Amino acid sequence: MNEKTEKLVKKIGILKEKLNAVILVHNYQNPEIQDIADFTGDSLGLSKKAASTRADVIVFCGVDFMAETAKILSPSKTVLNPAPDAGCPMADMITAQELMEFKKEYGPATVVSYVNTTAEVKAESDVCCTSSNAVKIVNSLEDDRVIFTPDRNLALYVHSKSNKEIIAWDGFCPVHDSIDVEKVKETMKKYPGAPLMAHPECRPEVLKLACYVVSTSGMFDVPLEDNSKEFVVGTEQGMIYPLSKKFPDRKFMPAADGIICPNMKKTTLEKILLCMENLTGQIELPPDIIKKASLSLEKMLDLS
Ligand code: 13P
Ligand code: SF4
Repeated sequence: MNEKTEKLVKKIGILKEKLNAVILVHNYQNPEIQDIADFTGDSLGLSKKAASTRADVIVFCGVDFMAETAKILSPSKTVLNPAPDAGCPMADMITAQELMEFKKEYGPATVVSYVNTTAEVKAESDVCCTSSNAVKIVNSLEDDRVIFTPDRNLALYVHSKSNKEIIAWDGFCPVHDSIDVEKVKETMKKYPGAPLMAHPECRPEVLKLACYVVSTSGMFDVPLEDNSKEFVVGTEQGMIYPLSKKFPDRKFMPAADGIICPNMKKTTLEKILLCMENLTGQIELPPDIIKKASLSLEKMLDLS
């Protein structure tokens, strides 16, 4: 750690005490951000932490829908997003108005929305899901007809594990959807025998090659049950750092070059310090949206 980083980390630590703050960090964040986290995790793990923390202030290092989810689950707390311009293009692929029209066209059906959605879309949904519990949530529904938004790849993956009729919105993650299956095959040829673990936001042809289809946190369980020395990782390349840190005797290779979510890289230590000093980047949502969106999120937490 260089001197500048050390100073920043120290100042953040002092402010954390003063504010009674907790720092929640998504698994894709840059290493120096993961290193100051009180908790790192996937969307489900982070939602659970946000719902149960005793801190007064949540500093959420991820993208906007994640910080919004924290606010919906803990509305009385101050939730700070150090990089308010860090969005998720997939979450912006459906609006509440579009969902209402889709429901009119294809309903009646139970609406399951991936947590990668705006608060307004969550408010129009019956239940939320994340990449780690989507199959479980859909299969636990009484209804046999499901509208699934916004990720078509996750919807297809869930469909492969369920007998329900799934009507999918045509959204996608630009980062995972652009992972080229031919490039993945080349990587797998280079590391014969190394199993592929892939995120369910990848296209079906990539998932077909995978031994493990898992959420980002689910990837930490794979080396515990699989003794392979090398693994190919089909998700945002930020995952390579925490996997290599947790399993120093294994090798983790990105499935292809340049699998980077630019929004996840917008958070810096400087921005974290600044938002904690000035209480900027506060998440504010209309109370009626919080109330409605919390129902679909809490239903997810009850079912998972
Ligand atoms: P996880 O919930 O698996 O961490 O995924 C979140 C995400 O945005 C993946 O692109
Ligand atoms: Fe959104 Fe994809 Fe980035 Fe995840 S990796 S935050 S789904 S754009």
